[in-house]
Amino acid sequence: MIEASAPGKAILLGEHAVVYDQPALAVPLPDLRTLVSIQQLASDRASIYIEAIDLDQSFWLHERDDRDPLACATRLALTAATSSHPQSLQIQIRSSIPIAAGLGSGAATSVAIIRAIAAYFDISLADQSISDMAFQVEKLHHGTPSGIDNTVISFEKPLYFQQEKHCQTFVLGKDLQLVLGHCGVTSQTGDVVAGVRKRWQAEPMTYDALFKEVGDLVDQAYRALIEGKLQALGELMNANHSLLQSMAVSQPELDALVESARDAGALGAKLTGAGAGGFMIALVEPSSAGTVLKALVEAGAQHAFTTKVST
Ligand code: MEV
Repeated sequence: MIEASAPGKAILLGEHAVVYDQPALAVPLPDLRTLVSIQQLASDRASIYIEAIDLDQSFWLHERDDRDPLACATRLALTAATSSHPQSLQIQIRSSIPIAAGLGSGAATSVAIIRAIAAYFDISLADQSISDMAFQVEKLHHGTPSGIDNTVISFEKPLYFQQEKHCQTFVLGKDLQLVLGHCGVTSQTGDVVAGVRKRWQAEPMTYDALFKEVGDLVDQAYRALIEGKLQALGELMNANHSLLQSMAVSQPELDALVESARDAGALGAKLTGAGAGGFMIALVEPSSAGTVLKALVEAGAQHAFTTKVST
């Protein structure tokens, strides 16, 4: 049996503005992972059975076309890995990354499938090639992905990302202690991104100015991350949350969790990912992680946890 995995991700600053060519910052969340295993099936038929346990889906590959993200990722990887796949295989997908919550579960699934298939056929694929394939699948999830999710998950390193301009992994100046809380509402990235696009079309000057302000915060936060200035980073995250509120992608439950994390001593807190539901993220001193976690649970977080991104 062959196994491969990919991490979840959190956007520290810059979601939504990144779709409009502004920079954004993301980190992998190595404690949350999608795991894909491949084993040979005892069958003469050359067919592939996909079992996605957490998505409650199982199907033969030939039953689904390329509009299905799991089938699409599998075919892209098979095409890159082998000119023919005469074996009968079972591909099993398990994930500890919450679904539809802003933590990159879709991109992690694609990357883990691609890595597992490459390992099964014993070929080596560059991280950039894996990311490019996963980007094709991201387009199925929503029409205009920036590419930040597939990139940070494929490279599994902190990332400064600006579409087609500047994409750079970097080393953190200090470990980041994070606390994340789910507000209890799920949202589809595609719907939230489409909502922002509608509002941008209605008020282009207002939204372009908001996106530019986010881009400026991201550049300051990039320096703070490299220099390990966590107090400054926290303040920039707070300012980014206000701009996301102005874009109407936050909502009351998320705002309540963000407030309670700040009141409990977080250095900064904001929604993370598409918003309109899903997770918020708080940057904390290691000594206050427990207090902030407790505050989030008391404020109604449905799922809350602490995690560390190491230098
Ligand atoms: C989703 O994780 C982040 C968004 O900026 C969309 C994207 O970048 O494709 C909302």
